[in-house]
Amino acid sequence: MNTLQDLKSRFNHLRIISASNCGVAHLTMPAAEAINHATKKRLELGPLAFKDAEIEGARRQFAQEFGLLLNTSPDNISFVPSVNDGLTHVALGILSRVHPKRPKIALYKSEYPSNVFPWTRPDSKIGFDPVWVLGERGTGDRPLRFSVQEFKRALDENPEISVVSVSSVQFESGFKTDLEALGRVCQNRNVWFVVDAAQSLGSMPLDPKQIHASVVTASGWKWLGGPEGSAVLYTSPEFRNWIKRPGMFGPDARVQKSYSDPGYTPAPGGKMFELSTCNYGLISGLGATVKENQNAIGSDKIWEEISRLQTIFLDRLRAPNMQLVDLQADERAGILSFVVNTDPGNVVARLAEKGLILPAPRGGYLRVALHWFLTDEQVNQAADLLSADLKSV
Ligand SMILES: Cc1ncc(COP(=O)(O)O)c(C=O)c1O
Repeated sequence: MNTLQDLKSRFNHLRIISASNCGVAHLTMPAAEAINHATKKRLELGPLAFKDAEIEGARRQFAQEFGLLLNTSPDNISFVPSVNDGLTHVALGILSRVHPKRPKIALYKSEYPSNVFPWTRPDSKIGFDPVWVLGERGTGDRPLRFSVQEFKRALDENPEISVVSVSSVQFESGFKTDLEALGRVCQNRNVWFVVDAAQSLGSMPLDPKQIHASVVTASGWKWLGGPEGSAVLYTSPEFRNWIKRPGMFGPDARVQKSYSDPGYTPAPGGKMFELSTCNYGLISGLGATVKENQNAIGSDKIWEEISRLQTIFLDRLRAPNMQLVDLQADERAGILSFVVNTDPGNVVARLAEKGLILPAPRGGYLRVALHWFLTDEQVNQAADLLSADLKSV
């Protein structure tokens, strides 16, 4: 059994301090190796690679690893290119089921666009009508938080709402949603509960059943450490049975007569949301990083380590002109958002030159997103670099 220190040593090759895990995270070594391996197969075998059991096995392993991570059956897992793409097909599935009705959805006003565009199409006849939950603003009118109570009120006032879709963690302030409480509210009203977990999956535990979610999705290239163009989608069997058919053809779909015949039976299980010809390099890369990192360590241990590193970082910071976002400790997750009295974009650019990589500022916040693989020394160094930079402005 590898200790956390052994596993951290696999990141020794990094010459930078990678604290941008809520933006583009570092591609992990198992992901890189799996992608290289699949690409080599494709190079050697050409189109025959698609028939190669090893490459098809990558799809199976991907679903198994995410089944383990989300405590669910591999059947409920789909590989999708992005959150935006996965949710678009979820939205299309709901729309085609209720057509010609225009369904209502409750959304937080400051949601990430990938969780807004798939639903709302104000200039089109096809789409959902949004009921906006405004939430509370923070310092300088920056987005801060919302309450479960506000969603409850929106649902009580608009009984036609059939979907609630929220991020598990807000990309700007770093506010963590009480998913279990909100999921219960949705369950009690027979409302589909959809969770965009791009800002938490890979950094803390998540069990769709426990939070009463019918759909959960997350980008592969953030906290999970996978490649761009990769994401995961969980759907419950009840949800899939209800929508019947998304817009995708999917691998293993049964064409009735020929490809030109529009009649077909969608691919079984979670495959119904997938591309008919998937990129096995991306699938095996995302599967491998989850196997060798999240599932090898355990999501609860990863979150414990991130919290410990955050404490080290916050204790070490010595920057008077920097204020941590006004959230309670249990409302915070992997993103530490700060209000600074200078342009945060310039801070990020200057620190990148010194080897500290922070994500692009969002919502007026300077953000720091530490991951489990960083060492105490790197975290202290990050705090020192940031303090020195802010003292100089
Ligand atoms: C909450 C949230 N959802 C989704 C994404 C990414 O979406 P996509 O996978 O569609 O690029 C981000 C990226 O910052 C995000 O913060």
